[in-house]
Amino acid sequence: MKRVIAIYPGSFDPPTNGHVDLIDRGSKIFNELIVAVLRNPEKEPMFSVTERRNMLEELTAHYKNVRVDTFDGLMVHYAVQVKSTCVLRGIRAISDYEYELQMALMNRKLCPELETVFMMPADKYSYISSRLVREVAKAGGPVNGLVPELVDQRLHGKFDPAHRFNQPIPSKPRRSK
Ligand code: PNS
Repeated sequence: MKRVIAIYPGSFDPPTNGHVDLIDRGSKIFNELIVAVLRNPEKEPMFSVTERRNMLEELTAHYKNVRVDTFDGLMVHYAVQVKSTCVLRGIRAISDYEYELQMALMNRKLCPELETVFMMPADKYSYISSRLVREVAKAGGPVNGLVPELVDQRLHGKFDPAHRFNQPIPSKPRRSK
């Protein structure tokens, strides 16, 4: 049977538990999975490309068939360069679908041989996005459970020591009946 090399492209700023879940699922169905971090000079990221790459490498070190790389320019050019025939993307909710469909069809137009495969992360991660994680962390809220422990620590390191980080949200006392 033909060996299938898939790429899992994204910004991963930062990697979340949803990304890790998808990598795990992808590692089980593809012979090789390349987690490809976009080097986007236009975006002002929270983590540098090197920091994101390092985090992903640590998170995937135990997979024999997963490696991490970076790319710029068109994703289809990168896919051809690494001999990948498949793109893995995660779909969390129906709201992701429109953008993902558009991107998949554009990539098909650019490179008809490249197939996009969508996978769903576990439902407990379906509301997590890197953007929301950054927002919660910046505002001092708790991100444990949303990102792996090492990402939680690196997020902490992004703020000055006075920043209130990972503050638990006090629960409202229940009224006794
Ligand atoms: O994690 P993200 O930000 O949703 O990932 C988006 C990504 C990196 C997959 C997409 O922006 C991309 O592939 N960019 C590379 C440029 C490109 O190929 N653009 C045309 C896509 S239709």
